[in-house]
Amino acid sequence: MSGAASPADPLPGENWTLRIPLADLEDTADFAHRLSAQLQAGDLLVLTGGLGAGKTTFTQALGQALGVQGPISSPTFILSRIHPNDDGPDLVHVDAYRTDAEGLESLDLPATQSDSVTVVEWGRGLVEDALAGPGGSWLDIELLTQQDPSASAAADAAPRTPETPDQADGAIRTDFSETEEDLLGTPRTVVLRGYGPRWQHPPLPGS
Ligand SMILES: Nc1ncnc2c1ncn2[C@@H]1O[C@H](COP(=O)(O)OP(=O)(O)O)[C@@H](O)[C@H]1O
Ligand SMILES: [Mg+2]
Repeated sequence: MSGAASPADPLPGENWTLRIPLADLEDTADFAHRLSAQLQAGDLLVLTGGLGAGKTTFTQALGQALGVQGPISSPTFILSRIHPNDDGPDLVHVDAYRTDAEGLESLDLPATQSDSVTVVEWGRGLVEDALAGPGGSWLDIELLTQQDPSASAAADAAPRTPETPDQADGAIRTDFSETEEDLLGTPRTVVLRGYGPRWQHPPLPGS
């Protein structure tokens, strides 16, 4: 059982690190779309970031861009789902938040790996050895909110979200289901790290 409250530190040995500011949900989706164009069957994406950072949101956009069958969700009890694709690699979506290396082993991810893009939320430090092997390749994708200290450099450059009228006039808000912020999204920073021969070079230009 892991249930780690904070993401593990990046593993040593990355080929490069790329920081891309994502101003809103549209930027997150656009990033996923651009990245999807560079992916192929066999690729492993290891997602890191606190609860609510946007790992599942990113995976949903990636699945849409790859054209896989949905819906991609954040299941409470299911650790892994295969999203078939008629026209490209399947998407295997794993959420390792509630498991450990042994639990992941029981999913037998190597069996689907070569036909799929495998995305593992909370996978850092858990899956690289098992799925990439020594000298293997993976992309480490870390999503940071503006509260994360390591996102502060990008926060300085990102535009501020204006106050909503609700907040400005002091009215008491009772409906939190779909705030303006939810619809537009708020700034994130994505930090990409490439490991192994497959990711000698970044798949996207920096900003
Ligand atoms: N720029 C953004 N990128 C991704 N998610 C965002 C962004 N802005 C706001 N959000 C919201 O943050 C939440 C992220 O949730 P989720 O993707 O489930 O996080 P995680 O899987 O990392 O726990 C969603 O409600 C999403 O709409
Ligand atoms: Mg999630």
